[in-house]
Amino acid sequence: MFDAIAPRYDAVNTVMTFGLDGWWRRRTLDLLELHPGDVVLDVGCGTGDFVRALARRGARAVGLDLSAGMLSCARADGQLLVRADAASLPVRAASLDAAVSGFALRNFADLPAVLAELGRAVRPGGRIALLEVDMPSNHLVRRGYELWFRGAVPRIGRLLSDGDAYRYLPRSVAYLPPPEELLGMLAAAGFAGARRHRLLAGGVQVLTGTRR
Ligand SMILES: C[S@@+](CC[C@H](N)C(=O)[O-])C[C@H]1O[C@@H](n2cnc3c(N)ncnc32)[C@H](O)[C@@H]1O
Repeated sequence: MFDAIAPRYDAVNTVMTFGLDGWWRRRTLDLLELHPGDVVLDVGCGTGDFVRALARRGARAVGLDLSAGMLSCARADGQLLVRADAASLPVRAASLDAAVSGFALRNFADLPAVLAELGRAVRPGGRIALLEVDMPSNHLVRRGYELWFRGAVPRIGRLLSDGDAYRYLPRSVAYLPPPEELLGMLAAAGFAGARRHRLLAGGVQVLTGTRR
C-alpha cells in the first residue's frame, strides 16, 4: 500500500493536515532534546520529512523504512536511508542517541517488537519521541475530526492518490492500543518517564521516554 501511495504521499499529507504536520514534527523534535552530532534513527521514515528536519538541527539522521516505494520518493539531504523492518533493526545495541517516528506506530504489525528493538538500540539516557494520530477527548472536536478523517480524507485520497489506502489510513487509528497500554509498552521496552503529549486538541499525540 505504501509503495502505491508514495509518489503523491507528501501532497496528500499537506492537504489533509492543512500543512500542520510541519508544526507537529518540529514539536516532536523539540521533545527529543537533541545535541549537535547526535545519531538519530527515524523509524518508518516514509519520504524523509523527519530525516531532513533532523539534518537541519545538526543531527546525523538515519531513515529506515520497509517500503521501497517510499524510500525511492524520499529526499534525505545527504543523510542515510535504509530499507529494513523496524521489528529487526540493523544497528548495534545502544548505538543511537535518539529515535523518532511519524505516523508509523499504527502501521507496525508487531508494535511490542518494534519498541523492544528501540529499547535495544537507544543508549541509556537516549530519548524517543513517537508522533501519532489520536482521538480528541472533547465530544464536539471529536465529531469534527471524525467527519474530516472518515469523510473528507478518503475523498481527497481518491482525487489525488489511492482511495482504498486513504480509507484504510484514518481507520487504522483503531489498531493503536489505548494510551495507558501504549505507555506501559514503552516502560516494558526500557523507557523511563514515558509520557503522552497531546497536540491539536488531542487529535495528535507524541509519546516520549528516556532509555533507562
Ligand atoms: C503513514 S507512513 C509515515 C511516513 C513518515 N514517517 C511521515 O511522518 O510522513 C508509515 C510508514 O511506516 C512504514 N512502515 C510500516 N511498517 C514498517 C515496518 N515494519 N518497518 C519499517 N517501516 C514500516 C511504511 O512503509 C510507511 O512509510
